[in-house]
Amino acid sequence: MKRFLQLKNLLGRERPAPRYRYAKGASDPAPIPARPTLPPPTVLSLINNKGGVGKTTLAVNLAAALSLRTRVLLIDLDSQGSASLSLQPASEDAASEDAASEDAASEDVASEDAASLVRVLCDGGDVRAAVRTTAVPGLDLISGGIEMIQGMKRLANLPGAPLRLREALAPLRQRYGFIFIDCAPTFTIFSHNALLASDAYVIPLLPHHLAIEGMGNLFRTLQRLQDAEHPFPPLLGIVLSMVDYRDPSTFERVTYLRKHFRDRVMLSEIPFHIEAAEAPEQAQSIFEYAHDPRIAESYWALSKEILHRSLQLARKTGPDPVSRRVS
Ligand SMILES: Nc1ncnc2c1ncn2[C@@H]1O[C@H](COP(=O)(O)OP(=O)(O)O)[C@@H](O)[C@H]1O
Ligand SMILES: [Mg+2]
Repeated sequence: MKRFLQLKNLLGRERPAPRYRYAKGASDPAPIPARPTLPPPTVLSLINNKGGVGKTTLAVNLAAALSLRTRVLLIDLDSQGSASLSLQPASEDAASEDAASEDAASEDVASEDAASLVRVLCDGGDVRAAVRTTAVPGLDLISGGIEMIQGMKRLANLPGAPLRLREALAPLRQRYGFIFIDCAPTFTIFSHNALLASDAYVIPLLPHHLAIEGMGNLFRTLQRLQDAEHPFPPLLGIVLSMVDYRDPSTFERVTYLRKHFRDRVMLSEIPFHIEAAEAPEQAQSIFEYAHDPRIAESYWALSKEILHRSLQLARKTGPDPVSRRVS
């Protein structure tokens, strides 16, 4: 109920656009319409060759935000299974009264789901068997988990390995408005699959030296693996995440990034906020958990920008660019 009220507030009144900090010389971005039209079904990977930059938190909260506008699927392609643990299963899946056994039960379900995704990718079969509903209406999940470590070795040796997720997702593309894929911090065969199954990718980036290095590492990896027959999708944008202006060097780094990467850096910034870190512990999205509306609003603003950029991308490439790109 609380979540519903908060979201209703966010949707109901159109606030003036927050004033973001622009670097001198950064291109002036086009204004984002208050309620952008929905793009055709879009698959987006969240990826960076660095852990702890907010990929999973972003994936969960963007998926929750967009589930208010359309059906959304979140695919957890990390063996740590953090995205799966950040969302409660739909109530009928977790009927237990006892919190500890509820946690254990949901971990079992997640691990079984991860095993079924690995089976689909390695042995074929219907990916729909791996999809489960979550407590967030309109948001479904394919879980990740420890089974993916074994699965990674098996998958890597199979023919056509990097394209298997793309093929598996074909029956789901029209069922969802958005499919988000949360990738692991190291570039594995699963990340390769994620990118080739995606229409575009998003890089969550902490404005810290090592995270910026992780992004450079990702670009180099993509360049090395680039294959003319199966090119990687375009970058939808870089999201500055966990931005903390209390750190005196943050402004300088953000300025540098905006100046250097220009409109590849999204306008919306996700601030560092303790509630973003607390929400997953309660297996809730920020919209259910947050007491401070500012943090929920930052994810909400970003979801609008993602909609807007996805629409622009679809106008450029036409709907379903994945099959056109690979065929
Ligand atoms: N905006 C934020 N403010 C504060 N902490 C955050 C924020 N976003 C994520 N976190 C916390 O930072 C840590 C890393 O985030 P996570 O999303 O798991 O990153 P990744 O998936 O890139 O490893 C987690 O403990 C998470 O709860
Ligand atoms: Mg993660």
